[in-house]
Amino acid sequence: MPDPSAAPDSQPPLSLARRVADSAVREQVYMIFPNDLNNNDTVFGGLIMSQMDRLCAVVADRHAGAICSTVGVDAVHFLKPARRGDVLIFSACVNRAWNTSMEIGCRVEAETIAGLDRRHILSAYLTFVAQNSEGRPHPVPALVVESDQEKRRYGEAQLRRESRLAHSEALKRLRAPTTSEP
Ligand SMILES: CC(C)(COP(=O)(O)OP(=O)(O)OC[C@H]1O[C@@H](n2cnc3c(N)ncnc32)[C@H](O)[C@@H]1OP(=O)(O)O)[C@@H](O)C(=O)NCCC(=O)NCCS
Repeated sequence: MPDPSAAPDSQPPLSLARRVADSAVREQVYMIFPNDLNNNDTVFGGLIMSQMDRLCAVVADRHAGAICSTVGVDAVHFLKPARRGDVLIFSACVNRAWNTSMEIGCRVEAETIAGLDRRHILSAYLTFVAQNSEGRPHPVPALVVESDQEKRRYGEAQLRRESRLAHSEALKRLRAPTTSEP
């Protein structure tokens, strides 16, 4: 079985690699106020997605040492609602780095202001691409995975990437003009 901490081909040497902990954000809190709610009196989902994207952009930029853009977010499912007076808790880290892209995993929880009743609100996987000053994709450092959890995420991220790229290619083929079209 390949060593999951080894640098993939065509990436910078492992000496330039960064550990997951070098860029991870743990338990970033956000207090919910009334203007964060939707008409159902639960937290507006777009607010959570926006916060998640910002946080993951910081993780990606830190790992890459460059400005990164979001190219995709895997299916987001809201598992439980967050409510007025809750505190949202965001955690995010790099799951895997490839050539110019990275998968950042984000977990969002909510708890009451007193720190009780912690609930898992959503988890999502975001793909970021590092860019150079011309806005073109730029190589990112390899990722060193150490704990069993980091190694599991690293392995699973490859499966998700293959599925994302296959889906993207299938859509391109479907949308490509056929020779019979005028
Ligand atoms: C980021 C951007 C410059 C990349 O350009 P591109 O021509 O798609 O570049 P490439 O085809 O060379 O792909 C670059 C990387 O993205 C990956 N990628 C491309 N499409 C992807 C998708 N749908 N899902 C996941 N990864 C994808 C490629 O696999 C490649 O990764 P790798 O180098 O690690 O193998 C371009 O897609 C872009 O500008 N997108 C808009 C970004 C944006 O505005 N985001 C919202 C605001 S931040």
